[in-house]
Amino acid sequence: MIIEPRMRGFICLTAHPEGCAQNVINQINYVKSKGRIDGPKKVLVIGASTGFGLASRITAAFGSGASTIGVFFEKPASPGKTASPGFYNTAAFEQQAELLGLYAKSINGDAFSNEVKEKTFDLIKAELGQIDLVIYSLASPVRTNPNTGITHRSVLKPIGTSFTNKTVDIHTGTVSEITIEPAKEDDIENTVAVMGGEDWEMWIDALNEENLLAAGATTVAYSYIGPTLTEAVYRKGTIGRAKDHLEQTAFKISDKLAAIGGKAYISVNKALVTQASSAIPVIPLYISLLYKVMKEKNLHEGCIEQIQRLFQERLYTGSPAPTDEQGRIRIDDWELKEDVQERVAALWHEATTETLPSIADMEGYKTDFYNLFGFKVQGVDYGKDVNELVEIKGLV
Ligand code: NAI
Repeated sequence: MIIEPRMRGFICLTAHPEGCAQNVINQINYVKSKGRIDGPKKVLVIGASTGFGLASRITAAFGSGASTIGVFFEKPASPGKTASPGFYNTAAFEQQAELLGLYAKSINGDAFSNEVKEKTFDLIKAELGQIDLVIYSLASPVRTNPNTGITHRSVLKPIGTSFTNKTVDIHTGTVSEITIEPAKEDDIENTVAVMGGEDWEMWIDALNEENLLAAGATTVAYSYIGPTLTEAVYRKGTIGRAKDHLEQTAFKISDKLAAIGGKAYISVNKALVTQASSAIPVIPLYISLLYKVMKEKNLHEGCIEQIQRLFQERLYTGSPAPTDEQGRIRIDDWELKEDVQERVAALWHEATTETLPSIADMEGYKTDFYNLFGFKVQGVDYGKDVNELVEIKGLV
């Protein structure tokens, strides 16, 4: 079929298999161009199909030659209906891994559930033995806690007082003011239950109990801090509380892994266009200004550049990863450079529907957004009939 983008707000209902495959190949080529990383050998990536998790899987496999197991929650295609992009990404990733003789298996299901965890443990036991790196990169609006059966939904709200600021409709470029009402107490609890560290700890506890972690194993989860501009809705909002919890969980996990010489890290990453971040109000406007400034200063990075740098310059240098005073690895260092933030803050005040085309990188934002779904990718012929029914060969 001929596949075209069908946008609905901050989601696209279709995805292009060849565009997704090209994105994956571009990321692989980038990692290869940066040389070999003396990194992990057997890697589990939870949230492996898009964004930072996919970049982590690609870096481990094509930078270090690692065997990888990827866990994600994606929709397969049916006749006339495309799969979700993460499904196509994974199919392409596995194809490329196979060409190099790299082990790659995937599990599609709810990572929060006991069933998916058990399936993953069985696969590791049968085929890899032990894992030396676990990347935890889930971004989900909902989680059912397998112990209580309670389904929690996260919300993206400020805490204490309402927050009014500018936001942009990325499709029309219209800047407007948005007011977000403050969260209620159970909103905070629910967001922490979904995006905090409880599930990460469950994964690592169970892997450790089942003796599936190699001596010296590392686990990394991703966090975000961001600037003062967005802090009411992000770092000091409900999602920030969840990130606080995630970050505290790293210390708990590190204590538990001490016996095997293992360690849990938080990596604070840069703001980027992903399916997760485009759903947060105010953030897309910030990102479009940030892209403009970082590109001008030659500091721009995407997920793959960020994670390749995380592996090569932080995690696998031969010395313990450098961390900030709160124990976190920082690869948001370029985003938070003083001159970058001063410029973004100045542009923020100038941002209106009229000024935006010249002061923000709306084109870059939009292209990245379309790219997430395999559209507007260079070198892909979108007029061509393509088979939407792509399979993931190593799906368990
Ligand atoms: P994303 O939306 O691109 O990827 C989320 C991944 O989680 C996908 O592989 C998806 O299939 C998987 N997933 C979601 N629900 C699942 C479930 N129930 N079971 C199994 N898999 C599931 O998100 P992104 O942006 O890469 O986020 C990953 C992490 O990075 C999050 O913790 C996020 O907060 C963090 N981060 C994101 C930043 C950004 O600007 N996008 C910046 C800094 C950190």
